[in-house]
Amino acid sequence: MFARGCHVGVGRLCLTLPVAAIVAMVSGAAAQDAKDPRSVALAAYDRIATVLQSPRCINCHPRGDRPTQADDRHVHGMNVQRGADNTGVAAMRCSTCHQAHNNDLAGVPGAPHWHLAPRSMGWAGLSKGEQCRVLLDPRNNGGRGVPELVAHMTGDALVLWAWSPGRGRMPPPLSIEEMKIALEQWAAAGAPCPE
Ligand code: HEC
Ligand code: HEC
Repeated sequence: MFARGCHVGVGRLCLTLPVAAIVAMVSGAAAQDAKDPRSVALAAYDRIATVLQSPRCINCHPRGDRPTQADDRHVHGMNVQRGADNTGVAAMRCSTCHQAHNNDLAGVPGAPHWHLAPRSMGWAGLSKGEQCRVLLDPRNNGGRGVPELVAHMTGDALVLWAWSPGRGRMPPPLSIEEMKIALEQWAAAGAPCPE
């Protein structure tokens, strides 16, 4: 792009700066960003999103009528359907197979009151920013404000199950402690969403 030997171009001008000066300029800008509460919060949300988009959460938060399974998020077997109340159809209630605890012998995950998130809380296939906005919208999220969302994501039994998912399933990429810290940072700066 620039003539040979030209380090920094401004219009047709060519300034020759030592590499060290350029490095100092770039890292100075990064340090400034890190202090800005909004960029701290957006960076925290990036980490939160790796959890929200992990199979452990998405498998129960589909946008259609079928849960998905396992780390590859394939459609739930045995024609399991959402049903009118998100707990399955009459002959195939979630509780027919899913108990309050994992059954590692049978390979069936379990936690108290195992059922699908309502369709309005469906996240599968959404981008990071879309998912963030759906999550925050009280019309979709059961009327929750940010404190209630944070409380749900750090205390609900179905959420916590993701960190003890039973044999053969990966927990989300952040530890629950890292998730709590990220949620606090995000909430403290007004819970901004990425584009
Ligand atoms: C076994 C199924 C199941 C799993 C696994 C699950 N959820 Fe949910 N989730 C639900 C159900 C059901 C609701 C609705 C509960 C309610 O409104 O009281 C819900 C609601 C939520 C809500 C509240 C409203 C909203 O905007 O969606 C959040 C936040 C949430 N889940 C986060 C998570 C996260 C994070 C994970 C993974 C770490 C997760 N869930 C895993 C079933 C599940
Ligand atoms: C006939 C038995 C049966 C019924 C009914 C059933 N499930 Fe399952 N479910 C299973 C089994 C078995 C697995 C484990 C499959 C695997 O991981 O290979 C499973 C796995 C899952 C998973 C994957 C968890 C993960 O992250 O890997 C979710 C989510 C799930 N079921 C939700 C539901 C919901 C919601 C209902 C009710 C609408 C339901 N299931 C009804 C047997 C059943």
